[in-house]
Amino acid sequence: MGEHKNPFPGENNTGHFWDDDNDVRELNNRPPRWYMWALYLGLIAIPIYSFYYPTIPWFGENTKGSGNWTQIVEMKESVAQLEQYRETKFADQEKAIAERSLEDILRDDELTNYAVKTTKVLFGDNCAACHGAAGQGNDGFPVLADDDWLYGGTIKQISTSITNGRKGNMPARMMGISDADADTLATFLIETGKGVHGKPNPASKALYMTKGCIGCHGPTMKGNVFMGSANLSDGIYRFKADDQKASVIRTILQGVNQGHKPLTQDAVMPSFGTSGVVDKNQIKKLAVYVHQLGGGVAVKPKPKPKKVVASASTAKAANARSGKELYAKCQGCHNVGVGGAPKYGDKAAWVPRIKRGVDDLLKVAKAGKGMMPPKGTCMDCTDDELRAVIQYMMESAGP
Ligand code: HEC
Ligand code: HEC
Ligand code: HEC
Repeated sequence: MGEHKNPFPGENNTGHFWDDDNDVRELNNRPPRWYMWALYLGLIAIPIYSFYYPTIPWFGENTKGSGNWTQIVEMKESVAQLEQYRETKFADQEKAIAERSLEDILRDDELTNYAVKTTKVLFGDNCAACHGAAGQGNDGFPVLADDDWLYGGTIKQISTSITNGRKGNMPARMMGISDADADTLATFLIETGKGVHGKPNPASKALYMTKGCIGCHGPTMKGNVFMGSANLSDGIYRFKADDQKASVIRTILQGVNQGHKPLTQDAVMPSFGTSGVVDKNQIKKLAVYVHQLGGGVAVKPKPKPKKVVASASTAKAANARSGKELYAKCQGCHNVGVGGAPKYGDKAAWVPRIKRGVDDLLKVAKAGKGMMPPKGTCMDCTDDELRAVIQYMMESAGP
């Protein structure tokens, strides 16, 4: 750098010039007054702050401060405040949810909206681990956001799934199915699932009809919501796998929830009615939440109130389901005699049992025996209801 003179000697500059025309010069002004005040006040605040609040690291902890301020106490107070606010603010809605039937809640858009908004977190905490954050399902856990239901998509059926839990039951390797049979059946199911694009071998249908599958999955392969036997005709698999055919073969050979088979498909939906993690109102809200994820069956408009007042006894009868109605849960095995089940209408099978009396049969039916699952899979059946189904089956043997 050549020597140069300061062209602005009277100006309080440092002698630094940043461009050739000396337009940009570094001046030596005092900082503005507001800035200095802020600095001094800041310096004063430091000791006051450190005296009052926890600040200085002290042997693995820190000084407590004279104010005894802790984040935890503050947070608990705020949460309590928030909860109280919520309770008062939403008291009316919560009361309405408690008092109204599930159908009535769905008929009320505002209440439905409230239930959905306040349940997202609850669903995330309790259900998402298995069913996915948006109910999209996971390997081994059914999708809740579509209209393909194992146990039915009405609000009542959904609520029952959540309250009582669900446990599908399919026997392993039924009626002497060979490995080759299982392969043929799996190909048949997968081809059928492809709809018009698939060409199931008509010969293999015979295997489906004779090996007991028809008993639970039905002649049209659409399944049965009373026992959660999956729809096999739609190509949607709740036990999804990269090699879908191998997975279907596994289901056929190892069954579903067959505890004695190590490779069986596990499918247990826990019961939230007894778990205590959610209360009754929350179960109702969860049912509404799942119902609106995409596949819930729409509720009918409210029926006009009937003029006739039901007497106490007919009201009770209306509550209990009839034997004929409940038989839908048993027919899968008892229509065709799966695993030696006494067949509906089979006199020889029923006469000796009728002799033993309904109470003895009830005892066995409740506990389960051999391939007969406890309560015949009707976990929410009362004793009276089970007695009614057994009676219904006994009557099938004729007079
Ligand atoms: C431990 C895993 C697990 C958790 C947690 C869980 N589920 Fe399930 N859920 C299942 C399984 C497995 C099934 C299928 C049962 C079967 O196949 O028999 C199921 C079935 C269902 C069904 C019936 C589906 C149908 O197609 O009919 C509903 C509804 C449901 N769950 C809702 C919920 C809700 C709501 C929660 C949270 C409160 C929840 N589940 C928590 C595993 C779980
Ligand atoms: C006692 C009743 C019962 C009988 C008999 C039965 N199944 Fe099942 N099956 C079920 C139930 C229940 C499920 C669903 C289990 C679940 O999801 O919890 C199921 C599931 C399946 C699945 C899995 C479907 C999916 O979506 O992943 C296949 C495949 C299957 N069954 C094939 C068969 C075949 C083939 C036969 C005849 C050899 C048969 N089942 C006989 C009750 C039965
Ligand atoms: C998964 C197949 C299956 C289902 C579903 C099923 N049962 Fe059974 N049931 C059996 C079999 C197998 C037997 C024969 C058990 C034995 O004697 O070893 C049986 C036997 C019985 C018996 C006679 C018990 C005895 O001591 O002789 C009664 C009663 C009965 N079932 C009632 C029911 C009722 C009620 C339902 C429905 C709510 C039902 N079952 C559903 C398979 C089934």
